[in-house]
Amino acid sequence: MLDGEQGRAVRKAMEILTTLGTIYGAERLIPVSSVQIAGVSYDNLGEAGLSFLEEMAAGGGRARVLTTLNPAGMDVENWQALGISPEFAEKQARVLEIFARMGVIVTCTCTPYLSGNLPHFGEHIAWAESSAVCYANSTIGARSNREGGPSALAASLTGLTPAYGYHLGENRLPSLCVEVDAHLEGTTRFGALGKVIGEKLQAAQLRPVAFITGVERASLEELKSFSASLATYGGAALFHIQGITPEAGLYTPPKQTLRVTQADLEAAQQTLNDAAPEEVDFISLGCPHLSIQEIARLAQLLEGQHVEREFWITTARPTKLIADHMGYSGIIESSGARFAVDTCCVVAPIKGRFEALATDSAKACYYAYAKNGFKTAFLPFDQVVHLALQPRSG
Ligand code: F3S
Repeated sequence: MLDGEQGRAVRKAMEILTTLGTIYGAERLIPVSSVQIAGVSYDNLGEAGLSFLEEMAAGGGRARVLTTLNPAGMDVENWQALGISPEFAEKQARVLEIFARMGVIVTCTCTPYLSGNLPHFGEHIAWAESSAVCYANSTIGARSNREGGPSALAASLTGLTPAYGYHLGENRLPSLCVEVDAHLEGTTRFGALGKVIGEKLQAAQLRPVAFITGVERASLEELKSFSASLATYGGAALFHIQGITPEAGLYTPPKQTLRVTQADLEAAQQTLNDAAPEEVDFISLGCPHLSIQEIARLAQLLEGQHVEREFWITTARPTKLIADHMGYSGIIESSGARFAVDTCCVVAPIKGRFEALATDSAKACYYAYAKNGFKTAFLPFDQVVHLALQPRSG
């Protein structure tokens, strides 16, 4: 591959992988069975990223394993309704067309595990979206590093990745024990927990693998929210929860212990709440992308109601199709809320369009401020919907 016998794109891909392997001291390359590529939004890629992709496709690059994409900068079918410019839409469509030419499945989602890209325990994969990597490593027990866009594409075009980091058992050992002494329920609480633990791991400069005790139960939705938050605030790609995640039983809890209380969670929640309810002019649920259960709940809450503020519901297209079949989409859209499929409130080009975002996602709060300068209201799922129903003046 390095000699170019399999084409220019494969040579470039192998150069990327061997360079990474050298930097991280990998002794060999290992096969991967699943890839998820980030850096799909034209807002992040720009012209340089677009021409890199063009070059890889023109050089004969073809996906060798199941490969899906992270959210793009727009809803591919419904971009006009979301206020996306035709110039941006044209560039974004080109990005997706190039990926399709390379045999990549153009399902654009940060929850690929809900849309047909679901690895099993112990499987080596090369995923790039930080929340999905954290979810796959921890909740499923698959093995992935946090890939960048180019290294994930390189893994797809070769079917290989260098064996270092979380592919090796010794790096999956926990470094810190976290005892949770708090009532945990809902995506917001789990997001706050991810923020608290993530910031402690960063401050302690520890290898960011927490062993968490005291969590009695956690739903898929709570775990995806926790994964997104822990990855955002702690740079973590793996955690273990006693009695819940599959590898936790393999390890003894580390001696160094940290306690997280109800007060810690409330304080974390408070720091992400700097927008007054009447200031909120943008509402978004679906970071990470909504599951079908969450959409069903939304339909229940919005039935016969009318939303008073711009409200985006972000999810994967396959999940939206299920929602269509179940009649949830019709109920939701009749309320005035909009589906923003294939995209999200962070990767869409919306800087300057809004002042303050309300969401149940700690990760979305972080980027709403860091990328777009929005104030944020960080509220439980049902309360976010309730706020959407209130006129701004009242
Ligand atoms: Fe997904 Fe966008 Fe959030 S990619 S995790 S919805 S920032």
